[in-house]
Amino acid sequence: MTWITMDRASGTPLFRQIYAHFRKAILQGEMKSGTALPSTRELASALHVSRNVVVEAYEQLFAEGYIESRHGSGTYVADGTFLDLARHALPSIPLAAMTSSVGTAHADLIDFRHGIPALNQFPRKLWGQLAQRICADTSDEAFGYGKPEGSTELRAVLAQYLLRTRGVICEPEQLIITTGATQAINLIAKLLLPGGKEIIIEDPITKEIHTLFSLPGTTLSPVPADDQGMMTHLLPTDGKPCFIYVTPSHQFPLGGVLPIQRRVQLIQYASASDCYIVEDDYDSEFRYEGAPVSSLQGLDPDRVIYIGTFSKILSPALRMGYLILPRSLVETARGLKWLTDLHTPSLEQLILARFIEGGYLDRHVAKMKKLYRKRRDYLIQALVHTFADKVTILGYSTGLHLVAEFTGAVFTPALLAQIEQSGVRVYPVSVHALDKNKHRKRIILGYGNLSEERIAEGIRRLGSIMQ
Ligand SMILES: Cc1ncc(COP(=O)(O)O)c(C=O)c1O
Repeated sequence: MTWITMDRASGTPLFRQIYAHFRKAILQGEMKSGTALPSTRELASALHVSRNVVVEAYEQLFAEGYIESRHGSGTYVADGTFLDLARHALPSIPLAAMTSSVGTAHADLIDFRHGIPALNQFPRKLWGQLAQRICADTSDEAFGYGKPEGSTELRAVLAQYLLRTRGVICEPEQLIITTGATQAINLIAKLLLPGGKEIIIEDPITKEIHTLFSLPGTTLSPVPADDQGMMTHLLPTDGKPCFIYVTPSHQFPLGGVLPIQRRVQLIQYASASDCYIVEDDYDSEFRYEGAPVSSLQGLDPDRVIYIGTFSKILSPALRMGYLILPRSLVETARGLKWLTDLHTPSLEQLILARFIEGGYLDRHVAKMKKLYRKRRDYLIQALVHTFADKVTILGYSTGLHLVAEFTGAVFTPALLAQIEQSGVRVYPVSVHALDKNKHRKRIILGYGNLSEERIAEGIRRLGSIMQ
C-alpha cells in the first residue's frame, strides 16, 4: 500500500498533501504511466483520513491530466506525464482589454467586458486603514526613490504566497514588481527581443500581445489553441524561437487549462529549442472546479518566466503585477525597469504586503470566488434558457469570463453594432485571433462586474437581437 507521510499540523489541507505526493511521484517517473493507483477506499483507510479527502486529491490529479480512470477497472497514471528534470527539486508541497466598443454607447449599456473584477467589492475600508498605518509607521526613506525590483517586504511575502497557492518556485531576488502584467510583458519584449526574433504565441491570444510583440524584425508564429489550451503537437518543427508565450492555467480567451501531457511536451520542446517559456497567469486563482492548477513555472523554474497580476484578484486600478525571472535575467531586467519608470509606487507595495501578510488576500479571494461562481452559473443558465441548443459554452471552469458559440451566427461589425444599439456590449473572439475564420461564431462574455439582474437583462437583450 502507498505510504504517504501526512503532516496534520502543517496547515496544508490533507487532500493537497496526497495530491502533491502523487504529482511528484508521477512527474519524476517513480509512478510510470499505466501504474494503478490504490482505490480511494483503501487509501483512505491506510492513511486514516476520510474517503472524501482522497477523492478530492484524485479529482485534482484527474483535472490536471496526471491520472485517468478506466471504466470498471480503477485509476491509472496517464501517458506523457514523466518530466525528465532530475536537476530540479520539485516543491515538496506544490500547490497550486483594451475595450472594443462598436457603435455609440447606449444610455444603460450592459457591458460584458472581460477581465473586470467586481469593482464594488474592493476592500476599501481595510485598504484605507492599512494605508493610514503605513503612512504613520513607515520610515522617511520609504518616501524617497525605491529599488527598481520593488519593496523587499512585498517580494518576500509574495514569494511565499505564490509557492503556497500556485506552486511557483522562486527566491524574492527573482521577483520584480511591475505596474501590472502589461508592463511585465513589455519588459520581456525589451529583454529578449533586441535585434528581432521569432516568438511562438497561442492563437487566439489578447490582441495587445500581437501589438506588443510585433516589433521590427520580429516574427509571430501562432500555434492554435483548443479547449485545452495550446495544441503543443502543432509546435513548429523548423523554427528557432526566442520564447513561447502561453496562458496555461486559463487560456485567453478560450479558457482551456493545459493538461500535464501538453505541459511536458511544451517544456521538452523549449528545452530542445533552447528557448524560454513565458507563462502569463493572469486570473487562475478563480478556478471553480477543484483547486487552482499548479503553475508551469514550478515544473522548470530555470526555463519559465512567470507573470502575475493583482488586477483580477483585487483591482486593475492598483496597476500592480510581477515578473519572476531565472537568475541569469534578473540584473538586466532590473536595469530595464529602472529606465522605464524607476520603480512601481512604493506605498501601494507596502499596503499590499501587509494585506497579503495579514491573510486578507486569501480571505478576499475565497469570498470573490463564491460570488463569481454564482454569477457564472447564472450566466450559463441565462444563456441556455435563452438560446437552448443554439449555444455552446466554452472555457467556464476558471476566471472572470466564458466563451459562447452560437450556431448559425457570425459576429460581423454590423451585428455587433446592432447588439450594442440594443444596450449590450459583447466581445468577439476573432478580434484576438490571427486565424479569424475559426472564431467568427464566438463571443467573450465577462461576468465579474455584473450583478445577476444585469446578466439576466443583458442576455435577454442579446436574445432579442440574435433570434
Ligand atoms: C491574458 C492577459 N494578460 C495580461 C493582462 C493584463 O493585466 P494587467 O492589468 O495586470 O496589466 C490581461 C488583461 O486582461 C490579460 O487578459
